[in-house]
Formats: sequence, structure tokens, C-alpha cells
Amino acid sequence: MIELKNLRQNYGSRTVVDVDALTLPEGGLTSIIGPNGAGKSSLLGMIAGLQRPTRGQVILDGQDILRMPRNRFARRLAVLRQDNSINARLTVRDLVGFGRYPHSRGRLNACDVRHIAHAIKLVALEEYQHSFLDEMSGGQRQRAFIAMVLAQNTEYALFDEPLNSLDIKHAVGIMQLLRRAVDQHGKTAIVVLHDLNFAARHSDRIIAMRDGKIIADGKPENVITTDVLSKIYDMKLNVLKQQNKQIVDVFGK
Ligand SMILES: Nc1ncnc2c1ncn2[C@@H]1O[C@H](COP(=O)(O)OP(=O)(O)OP(=O)(O)O)[C@@H](O)[C@H]1O
Ligand SMILES: [Mg+2]
Repeated sequence: MIELKNLRQNYGSRTVVDVDALTLPEGGLTSIIGPNGAGKSSLLGMIAGLQRPTRGQVILDGQDILRMPRNRFARRLAVLRQDNSINARLTVRDLVGFGRYPHSRGRLNACDVRHIAHAIKLVALEEYQHSFLDEMSGGQRQRAFIAMVLAQNTEYALFDEPLNSLDIKHAVGIMQLLRRAVDQHGKTAIVVLHDLNFAARHSDRIIAMRDGKIIADGKPENVITTDVLSKIYDMKLNVLKQQNKQIVDVFGK
């Protein structure tokens, strides 16, 4: 279980994340939604130990993550950042192999190689596994980064806008893959999404943020509502119901 306690991130005099208390139990797919600048990436960055909170703590199974040895933490939690760029000339396999580093410490064994091949297969990049990242399309590269996180094979996997650059088929494929990881392998996925329909369709829980604060937190049917969405986006969005699922009319009124 991950617990956030009095978590705050300031930049200068601005507070960009201010969360008194939040619990993320094991299991389930939680989406974080909210407008640009709401603090989603800052929040995810603190949960992943990428950035130090100005105040407060992120606690994983009773222990402050900043006090955990990095390698041990990385065997439990993996993160896909929003902006991924790599200067070195790497192939897909090289990149996905980095996901195994917390397990292999650089010496890949047969089990690591199996995880790498499996992750590449899950994102349908077998054909490109020996291609260099700088010779691939944006969406192919994004899928390679997702595979790197999958290869790490952690209980918790955090994804900051994983669907960026993906075509509709691969976007649906990635969400289904995350659902399977949660439903069949008991993983815990925390995903920042801008597409409200993807969030509504695939999440067990949705956390809606604005100005660093959590405005709503609950099941999709309680968060994907005209009322909550107008509070976070300052625009009226009609929410239709079809087969018990919310569908946001993205053209609004
Ligand atoms: N390194 C930084 N220095 C100063 N301000 C920052 C820094 N990083 C983020 N911010 C500010 O913090 C606020 C929250 O940024 P954050 O990246 O967490 O938003 P977000 O919800 O992820 O937005 P987006 O949907 O655009 O990715 C923004 O107003 C941003 O300008
Ligand atoms: Mg962001």
C-alpha cells in the first residue's frame, strides 16, 4: 500500500501539489485526470521517488520511500515519465533491458531475457526489437518505453500519459494490457490520462486534480460527471450513459 501524508510540492512561492492524505492500496487501475498544470506529473514524480516533496511523505508498506534503498524500491515500483528522451543510440532491446537493471544490475540472465522478450511482445514491437529508437516513429518509441516499464515487472507501475502519440488501436491495446496486468497478475497501475473516455472505460478509480488539489476521488461513475468535470476543466461536458458506462461528449456545449 502507498500512503501519501501531507504531501506538498512548492516551486518558489507556488504550491503545485497539496494533498493531505491519499491511500493507494494494492491492486486496481487508478487514473489521474485534470487540466494541464494541475500537478499530476508532480504528484506522480513524488510517488515514484523522482522528485523530493517540499513537505510530507510517500510511504510504501510503512516505510518512507526516500529511506528505501533505490534498488529495492525499483524492484517494487516502476514509472514511465511524461517526457522521455534518450541521447544514446539504443535499440528497443537495449532500452527494454534497462527495465531489468534493478533485477540484473547489468548482467542479464535467461530470466531477464525472457522478461525483455515478453515485454516487447506485449507492445507488439517484435519486428522492431533491433531497430534504433531514433529511427522509429513517435508512437513506436512510446511503446518501447512502456515495454521498459513492463519488463521491470514490479507490483506498482506508474504511467504518465502512456497513450501519448499512440494510434487508437495501440492506445486501446495498452489499456487492455494494463487491465490484464491488474486483473490477472494482481498488479497495481496508476495512470495519468487526458482522454476521459479511456479513463472512464478502464479505471477502477479516478482521481481528479486541479491546482494541486484532489477535487474528486472515486469510481468512474462518481467522478466522470458533468458537475465534477466542469469544476476541473471550466467547461460543460455532457456525460452520456451507454451500457452502464460513461461516455463524455467531448465537444461540450
Ligand atoms: N521544475 C519546475 N519548476 C517550476 N515550476 C514547475 C516545475 N515543474 C512543474 N512546474 C509547475 O507546476 C505545475 C504543475 O505541473 P505538472 O507538470 O505537475 O502538471 P500536469 O498536471 O502534469 O500538467 P500536464 O497535463 O500539462 O502534463 C505547473 O504549473 C508547472 O508550471
Ligand atoms: Mg504532466
